Amino acid sequence: MRSILVLNPKGGCGKSTVAMNIAGYFATQGRRVALADCDPQGSCNYWLGRRPAGVHPIAPARSNAGKLSVPRGMDLVVIDSPAAMHGQRLAKLVRGSQTLVIPVLPSPLDMRAAERFLEELFSLRRLINRKVKLATVGNRMREDTLAAARLEYYLDRMKLPNGQNLPFITVLRNSQNYVKAVERGLSIFEFAPAKTVYDREQWQPLLRWLSSSRSVPG
Ligand SMILES: Nc1ncnc2c1ncn2[C@@H]1O[C@H](COP(=O)(O)OP(=O)(O)O)[C@@H](O)[C@H]1O
Ligand SMILES: [Mg+2]
Repeated sequence: MRSILVLNPKGGCGKSTVAMNIAGYFATQGRRVALADCDPQGSCNYWLGRRPAGVHPIAPARSNAGKLSVPRGMDLVVIDSPAAMHGQRLAKLVRGSQTLVIPVLPSPLDMRAAERFLEELFSLRRLINRKVKLATVGNRMREDTLAAARLEYYLDRMKLPNGQNLPFITVLRNSQNYVKAVERGLSIFEFAPAKTVYDREQWQPLLRWLSSSRSVPG
């Protein structure tokens, strides 16, 4: 089963939003998708509870002390993580995942936090002891701002411990479409098709990456 973990210890960077939309997209593609809400705040479970009748189903997966239990027969589990997760807990969650998606906001504090987090993640490699594929996504970008340009410049230069570039896949704009879709229990792939054209376009590089072998450890 394919597993995608959305991760960044910084609160508010868009983990839950990104997790819901990854799950929603693959559900619309007819994949059997489970969503694991590992955050006591329960944003993803709230969202699952609001999904209207008739949309593509997404199953809830349980997490108990870092151990996931996913319903049988799923093609994919998307895991949403809590803020401030470090050390053993972090290693445990990462160990169970093939792919890590790291949303980062365009602010100096968030960029600094992301850098420290990546340092910690790389220092856990012994604990993780298996390869995972990771990538960053800029979130809540206000286009043509200096902050957005700085984040793009910054994410584009991040390196993996082996010296290769850490893939920086796409930027997602700051858009009320995300907020409104969440309120209705929908992803932007299921909501207001005319209004979300541009948002869905911004998702394409991430969806292509997640659908390709480049995001799966060899
Ligand atoms: N691209 C976006 N545009 C507008 N609002 C966003 C976007 N991404 C996230 N948000 C909003 O920002 C807040 C924090 O997002 P959330 O996904 O809960 O972050 P996290 O799970 O990392 O704490 C939420 O109110 C969410 O609706
Ligand atoms: Mg969250």
